[in-house]
Amino acid sequence: MDMRPDPFVPPAPVPRTVPPSRLEIIRTVMRNPLELWGVPSYTLPWIKTKFFKERTLIVNDPGLIRHVLVDNAANYEMSEIRQLILRPILRDGLLTAEGPVWKRSRKAMAPVFTPRHSRGFAGQMLAKSEEYAEKYATVGTGGAVHDISVDMTELAYSLLSETLFSGQIVTESNNFSDDVDNLLHRMGRVDPMDLLRAPPWVPRLTRIGGRKVLEKFRKIVADTMRERQKRMREMPDDVPEDFLTLLLQLEGPNGLSLDEIEDNILTFIGAGHETTARALAWTLYCVAHSPHVREAMEKEIDRVLATGAEPVEWLELMPWVRASFEEALRLYPPAPSLNRAAIADDKWTSPTGESIEIEAGVTILVMPWTLHRHELYWEKPRAFMPERFLPENRGKIGRFQYLPFGAGPRTCIGATFAMQEAVIALAVLMKRYRFDALPGTKIWPVQKLTTQPQDGMPMRVSLRS
Ligand code: HEM
Repeated sequence: MDMRPDPFVPPAPVPRTVPPSRLEIIRTVMRNPLELWGVPSYTLPWIKTKFFKERTLIVNDPGLIRHVLVDNAANYEMSEIRQLILRPILRDGLLTAEGPVWKRSRKAMAPVFTPRHSRGFAGQMLAKSEEYAEKYATVGTGGAVHDISVDMTELAYSLLSETLFSGQIVTESNNFSDDVDNLLHRMGRVDPMDLLRAPPWVPRLTRIGGRKVLEKFRKIVADTMRERQKRMREMPDDVPEDFLTLLLQLEGPNGLSLDEIEDNILTFIGAGHETTARALAWTLYCVAHSPHVREAMEKEIDRVLATGAEPVEWLELMPWVRASFEEALRLYPPAPSLNRAAIADDKWTSPTGESIEIEAGVTILVMPWTLHRHELYWEKPRAFMPERFLPENRGKIGRFQYLPFGAGPRTCIGATFAMQEAVIALAVLMKRYRFDALPGTKIWPVQKLTTQPQDGMPMRVSLRS
């Protein structure tokens, strides 16, 4: 008999049983879209619905997801609302580029994100994680309270800026990562005018002030590029072999323009640190409520580190650490919704013969948030059970029922990078410290740019005795 206590069920909105009114939809989209979804979104394979006048298809069926994201991906472009929000910030960066620009850029940048290349970053990831872990050196066994959400953002940013830019971002501000957060949170959100499809010249009140931050930010990126170009010219033998150098080497009529390089630097900073940071914080939070998981992770970390294994091997050698991170990505996918729009009419037939017509112009929502908590595809969908991702069980999870990094041609280019940095960071932190939840503190997930805790994530950090 399994004597283990019931698994931890972390906080999440209860599915709605009554559809929201139009006003409620606007309010909820502004405040927290995770609270929008009703029981059908968590129980049906697909739903045809309308948001305002927009015909929308919510897709949960893994076969239909595969059809949209992979098999017939050419018929599905990035949805208008996503582009309306993100394109003014990221312009032709990889996340928001379309058509030939996307194709050329993805091909040009793929080499730096191959698993082999990402593995090359392991040493820097370890050094930076260890440096960051020193922050808690004085907490003692009694511990001290830290906002883990803020801390993980700082940590993930320091890993990203070290590996991609060798830490050489040119800024007078000591808080460049705060600048990034400020930019994304001011600019990267839905305004009621977006939902009503007001033309671009109608002011978006929620983004006022964003433009100034964006200009400041672009200047930092342009200065960083200029500085590196100077070094490439003047000291060609002493240039860091990082992402920045690689991008600048791609400049030219057949590669990328300087503007496109600038857009991609912004994109990689934007897409590459907050996502990982959120998932790290949710992992520590869920693990704090799951004593047997914490014990298994600590044992594993102690054992592997005692062997002196290189950090590049940890992802393979620490299945519990990896599984806990993957389970946190399931319950709190940093990108909770992948939005597309059908270009031409399309039709899909399921293996059991059910057909669905998808008309041109329909918005498609593939939502890791509902998919990962779906009654049809997961046992105890709302419970934190990393065991699902241990090697002996992993095979039972279908490729298209678990999409923290998306799928198909637009799949996350940084997925291997993110998995590796997460395992290294968790192992370094949990080797020395315990992270405990504070009784009486309400932690609530909200969808802003990512799935994040509404009022931060205060936790007690103490030395492992
Ligand atoms: C846990 C961490 C991460 C998660 C959950 C995540 C998730 C995603 C998802 C779901 C997409 C696909 C979006 C769509 O199909 O609409 C995506 C795309 C992307 N991600 Fe990540 N990401 C993570 C980390 C990173 C990192 C570390 C980087 C860079 C270093 C990165 C760079 C990108 C870029 C550039 C794209 C656009 C790819 C394209 O459209 O060709 N991401 N990410």
